[in-house]
Amino acid sequence: MKNKTILITGGAGYIGSHANKMLNEKGYETVVLDNLVYGHKAFVQWGEFVLGDLADYDLLDMVLEHHSIDAVMHFAAYAYVGESVTNPEKYYYNNVVNTLNLLKAMRRHNVNQFIFSSSCATYGIPRKIPIPEDHSQIPINPYGQCKLIVENILHDYANAYDLKYVSLRYFNAAGADPDGKIGEAHEPETHLIPLILDAAFDKSKHISIFGADYNTPDGTCIRDYIHVNDLAQAHIRALEYLENGADSDVFNLGNGNGVSVREMIETARQVTGNTIRTIESSRRPGDPDILVGSAIKAIELLGWHPQYTDLKEIIETAWHWKLKSLF
Ligand code: UFG
Repeated sequence: MKNKTILITGGAGYIGSHANKMLNEKGYETVVLDNLVYGHKAFVQWGEFVLGDLADYDLLDMVLEHHSIDAVMHFAAYAYVGESVTNPEKYYYNNVVNTLNLLKAMRRHNVNQFIFSSSCATYGIPRKIPIPEDHSQIPINPYGQCKLIVENILHDYANAYDLKYVSLRYFNAAGADPDGKIGEAHEPETHLIPLILDAAFDKSKHISIFGADYNTPDGTCIRDYIHVNDLAQAHIRALEYLENGADSDVFNLGNGNGVSVREMIETARQVTGNTIRTIESSRRPGDPDILVGSAIKAIELLGWHPQYTDLKEIIETAWHWKLKSLF
């Protein structure tokens, strides 16, 4: 029997590249489509690579014409929350309109399985912790709005057309491939763990703590950090779930443990053995005090087994990759 072929949009990015690696290790064929605006060609070490943009409908048509794609994993999106507030047009076009293009090409070629990278940003300010999937969704920025709009589009398309989808609402993706081949590198980098590790690596740098007056035990924001390989594993489970005939659904992906910014810095000190200079600065607009998810549904229905429940191990994989790659 022919191996299944998965089209991975954004497969040169942080989470997409880890999913690509894992899919190939599990015997899937993959085609990575990425415009390399933020992705890294060096992260596409498995499967076939197509350089291109989701705005290019003819290219999508050609890719789906020439490869017999069984399912699509859609990671491609701009993901700077702050920029989405100052330049929403960039986000609505790339993250929403281009997703419509992709769905249109899929319909034309009868590709009807779709795994979507959604976000805890769709919930907005949480009213309940841990956040369950049926929590209200009132995003507080265009990035979260875009993810929610696509979730709603998928709901309507699945009702009307022959489409089955799973939307996966990630909490904070963290860590790196334990083999050290790929990891987290954004340009510009805004994410907490890579910036902490930069400060651990280079004594001239520091980490800014964005707000020390939050309503949390140590005053800093609490997030739910989930290892990128656990996210990758969930995508494969979601694919199998649809292949087994399950209905379209939505799942949170998180560890269910809250970690504060200060706890993260302290754990990184222990893992690296280095001093990490910190500077307390003002709050970043739009950061809720606490974001922690309940992933019980994914564990029960998808049979998802997160492997990295220890924060130290998560940071170790990121540090290992940083030392190896010097990205
Ligand atoms: N933080 C700092 N200093 C920094 C960077 C971050 O204190 O230099 C804090 C933030 O204020 C936040 C926490 O560290 O409290 C985590 O921040 P990240 O930027 O690493 O992650 P976010 O929680 O902002 O963002 C993540 C994803 C986004 C997604 C968002 C959904 O990276 O793609 O969750 O809320 F949109």
